[in-house]
Amino acid sequence: GTGIITIPVVVNVLYRTASENISDAQIQSQIDVLNEDFNGTNSDFTKTPAIFSGVAANVGVQFTLAGVVRKYSSKRSWRTNNDMKSAAKGGIAATDPANNLNIWVVNDMGGILGYAQFPGGNASTDGVVIAHKYMGRIGTATSPYNLGRTATHEVGHWMNLRHIWGDATCGNDQVADTPQHNTSNGGCPAYPHYSTCTGTPVEMTMNYMDYTYDACMYMFSNGQKDRMLAVFATGGPRASFAN
Ligand code: ARG
Ligand code: ZN
Ligand code: CA
Repeated sequence: GTGIITIPVVVNVLYRTASENISDAQIQSQIDVLNEDFNGTNSDFTKTPAIFSGVAANVGVQFTLAGVVRKYSSKRSWRTNNDMKSAAKGGIAATDPANNLNIWVVNDMGGILGYAQFPGGNASTDGVVIAHKYMGRIGTATSPYNLGRTATHEVGHWMNLRHIWGDATCGNDQVADTPQHNTSNGGCPAYPHYSTCTGTPVEMTMNYMDYTYDACMYMFSNGQKDRMLAVFATGGPRASFAN
């Protein structure tokens, strides 16, 4: 291949009310965010603290909007059980998931902003799900999750990234250049925030794979980049996307 990875994105919108049927412009604003965040062109990338600037990544993955599928549903909320991905369950079936990243936009999932399927799972449920209030950065996008970073975080999972705290106290995210975090961070942590783990490193709270507000996350690391790109390499679980 040429080494350039372009990911066509199909957005599947399940709505009950008119406002939940988010606009094409709101959808495009999410594509724009993904292109910025995965190429280090986001306006807040330069806020990366000096101690991390050497590892802040240009992942080098591009996203293009390949289509929008819209469907009415009388459902007032959805769960993380993949019903939205099944026409038989009132959802929308994935479009060619070997060649498209499918994003489902639903009206509500309770307190859940979004969820993703890791590489290697069932093709019919492959992709990410985002509640409309956290999709894109215009329209119904709602503060403090109104900068499109929920999809950035979920697409990180879709590309095999773990949470930066390794989902355990001082856990392991399988990435060497991210510091060991005590646990997840929420809100907008003051810098520097010290880990209680071995060596008390400064935590990389501004990483997309933490749990902070959208305005307070603005970088992936080079180690995360390597882990993501491995998914698209020959023999990798998403090799069908490389071109
Ligand atoms: N809770 C979700 C997950 O673990 C997403 C968190 C997104 N955070 C954000 N600032 N938008 O996959
Ligand atoms: Zn997550
Ligand atoms: Ca690490």
